[in-house]
Amino acid sequence: MLSAKHIELVKSTIPLLESAGTGITEYFYQRMFKHNPELKHIFNMTNQRSGGQPAALFSAIAAYAKNIDKLAALSGAVERIAHKHTSLNIQPEHYPIVGHHLLATLRELAPEAFTAEVEEAWAAAYGVLAGIFINREEELYQKNANRVGGWLGARQFKVIEKRQESALVTSFVFAPVDDEPVVDYQAGQYLGIKVEPAHHEYREMRQYSLSDKPNGKTYRISVKREDSRNPDDEPGTVSNYLHDQVNVGDVLDIFPPAGDFHYVERNEPVVLISAGVGVTPMQSMLEMLASKKSDKPVFYLHACENLAQHSFNERVQALTSELKLTHHTWYRELDGNEQEVLNSQGHSGSVNSHMGFMNLVPMKADLPLDKGDFYLCGPVAFMRFVKQQLIELGVEDTRIHYEVFGPHSDL
Ligand SMILES: Cc1cc2nc3c(=O)[nH]c(=O)nc-3n(C[C@H](O)[C@H](O)[C@H](O)COP(=O)(O)OP(=O)(O)OC[C@H]3O[C@@H](n4cnc5c(N)ncnc54)[C@H](O)[C@@H]3O)c2cc1C
Ligand code: HEM
Repeated sequence: MLSAKHIELVKSTIPLLESAGTGITEYFYQRMFKHNPELKHIFNMTNQRSGGQPAALFSAIAAYAKNIDKLAALSGAVERIAHKHTSLNIQPEHYPIVGHHLLATLRELAPEAFTAEVEEAWAAAYGVLAGIFINREEELYQKNANRVGGWLGARQFKVIEKRQESALVTSFVFAPVDDEPVVDYQAGQYLGIKVEPAHHEYREMRQYSLSDKPNGKTYRISVKREDSRNPDDEPGTVSNYLHDQVNVGDVLDIFPPAGDFHYVERNEPVVLISAGVGVTPMQSMLEMLASKKSDKPVFYLHACENLAQHSFNERVQALTSELKLTHHTWYRELDGNEQEVLNSQGHSGSVNSHMGFMNLVPMKADLPLDKGDFYLCGPVAFMRFVKQQLIELGVEDTRIHYEVFGPHSDL
């Protein structure tokens, strides 16, 4: 329990935190990696360079200071972070390291404001927050370990199938080396995957959404090859390693399924909205609904570059006969051949395709705006654009759920 004095002192530092901004967490990470370089094996160093992770940590710390006397307001964020931490196998003994560098950062950046009593208050406050994460993470670890097919920590899986889904996306199906069952997951959840690319300085961990329905025996992920965004950058480390060097028969370390973004059954229509490789959790939800022979109305709205990059297109067409499914796709640009292919499919009546950005206004009469559940996945800018449309069309915020394929960011 924090004392009233501790709460007051932590709150008094909010203006300081806000004026320093993400400079605090950037400094914190530099300090931590200098003194504890072994943590570079756990953190995604690209998210450090891009600033995504320092920004996510800063917003979590600032939200904690603001809500320190009403922690219930943080429960959604705590749940999301705890799931992400478990996919990376974060352990209680890591917390004092982070706490030590956080306090040292505040002391070094603001020596005048960070008096002995403010430091004591922050130390107590960090202890409380760390305790909340440690407890929730332990619950999640145990829950996974105690279910049929569950496990703790890394488990070895062998690639039993590798299949190209589109120009940039390849699926991998994994079966456990021990031949035992694997724990079920909620459609929408992801796996933590650890790889050690040859000649690479660090082990690398990444999350990949499960892209099929649970079957108790295997897992499927579908990975987009990430190119370099600028000529001077390296192409994506893990995605290119998986595409180019991981083949059927190879063994990888995998952490149990995690994630607070997943399908929740309610007796209402559901609208799945994705862009690019954001198809993966949606594909899992569609396959799961089909396996349960769901008769609810399902809308699947997808945006992608062109036909060549349209993953699972044929499979979704096939699912229209198993589900009460309405399927629309927006292409950014098609070449002449692709346009022809699409026209020929369009004449058969099975394809609702559009060009340009996803625009929900013309179809507002068909969408279950007043009661449906909306699941979004894709680049943050895309999800912001779609969420804005949904809000303007009257969908309540609480019915809009989304996943960011990187450090979390509010829409
Ligand atoms: C919950 C969750 C679910 C996910 N599900 C999926 C999924 O289903 N399918 C999928 O494909 N991905 C998914 N991802 C994304 C995935 O985890 C990886 O982030 C993605 O594969 C890229 O990893 P990488 O190692 O290939 O690229 P990284 O090495 O992490 O690089 C990412 C990008 O940054 C660029 N970059 C590299 N160095 C720099 C630099 N110095 N400065 C600026 N940019 C740089 C790279 O060129 C690349 O484009 C998910 C992520 C999360 C958090
Ligand atoms: C109270 C302490 C902590 C807070 C407030 C915190 C906060 C966060 C937040 C906000 C994220 C981003 C979540 C998301 O994207 O959804 C995150 C991710 C992460 N955290 Fe923590 N965390 C804490 C402790 C720790 C500890 C002790 C470790 C282990 C050393 C750790 C390792 C990580 C890693 C590796 C990620 C993923 C980073 C990435 O993908 O770039 N965290 N944490």
